[in-house]
Amino acid sequence: MNALSKSSVVAVIGAGAMGAGIAQVAAQAGHTVILFDAKEGAADKGRSGVLAGLDKLVEKGKFEQSLRNEVAERIIVAASLGDLRDARLVVEAIVEKLDVKRSVFASLEEVVADDSILATNTSSLSVTAIAAGLNHPERVAGLHFFNPAPVMKLVEIVSGLASSKQVLDTLFETARAWKKEPVRATSTPGFIVNRVARPYYAEGLRLLEERASDVASIDTILREAGGFRMGPFELMDLIGHDVNFAVTRSVFDAYFGDPRFRPSLAQQELVAANWLGRKTGRGFYDYNPDAPKPQV
Ligand code: NAI
Repeated sequence: MNALSKSSVVAVIGAGAMGAGIAQVAAQAGHTVILFDAKEGAADKGRSGVLAGLDKLVEKGKFEQSLRNEVAERIIVAASLGDLRDARLVVEAIVEKLDVKRSVFASLEEVVADDSILATNTSSLSVTAIAAGLNHPERVAGLHFFNPAPVMKLVEIVSGLASSKQVLDTLFETARAWKKEPVRATSTPGFIVNRVARPYYAEGLRLLEERASDVASIDTILREAGGFRMGPFELMDLIGHDVNFAVTRSVFDAYFGDPRFRPSLAQQELVAANWLGRKTGRGFYDYNPDAPKPQV
């Protein structure tokens, strides 16, 4: 089975932290990428963020100016979903809500060719459920990148019950062509990485709720002594508390309320305050450059 050809158009829906990064990965691999976001100005912001990041790398001599310019040419902002009609692969990276994803996939079926692949970057939702009810559920599969998508090598290729072998194989080879390291998983709650990582966040949050220690100390201990690249709180701030909380809830619900996966009230409060982490400038830490750290 072959990877998607370089001349194939890729579309990305949702231009937030993940969608913009995935667009960058596909554009660097040579595809024209159509980037769409339902929020006014968000796709332009996502594209500019990618280019600003690449400009910094070029300045440091870590990225070719010519490739940066090619990426700029290849990422095209879409005004509406209809602009995605030529896409051979669509990667959805919108909000982690099943009903919203299902409605976007239903609309997509009206737009793209019957044999175009529809992939979801969902962290935790059932790929089977996202595909259910579509005319062609066999062309839906998970293509789950990690944050930040241009840096992290791992990609989970997730099969739903109806996903065809051909679609899964094409995604696997495409991820390889995009210089990623794909692994196969089936549509179980949280797949592999998010399932195994749940206790990392949950126990960190419980330690905090039980006042065993503070945010910065727990992060430092796990990073410096535990050998993790990031402590649980700085990692949740990077992921975004809205996303991380939604993923925990979805895994908890999918396992019929198994207390191992119980969401945290402290994190729920952060979401309620819109302290979502780096993306809103404040989470467990305050990212305002003038703020004293840590804050919580
Ligand atoms: P984000 O909040 O940064 O971006 C989501 C974007 O989707 C926003 O720009 C929003 O305007 C847009 N959007 C929402 N509903 C839409 C719709 N109906 N149509 C078009 N655009 C819409 O979220 P993030 O972090 O990029 O997450 C996106 C997806 O990727 C979620 O499914 C999440 O679970 C998954 N994911 C997140 C990771 C992370 O570390 N943040 C890691 C891996 C997967």
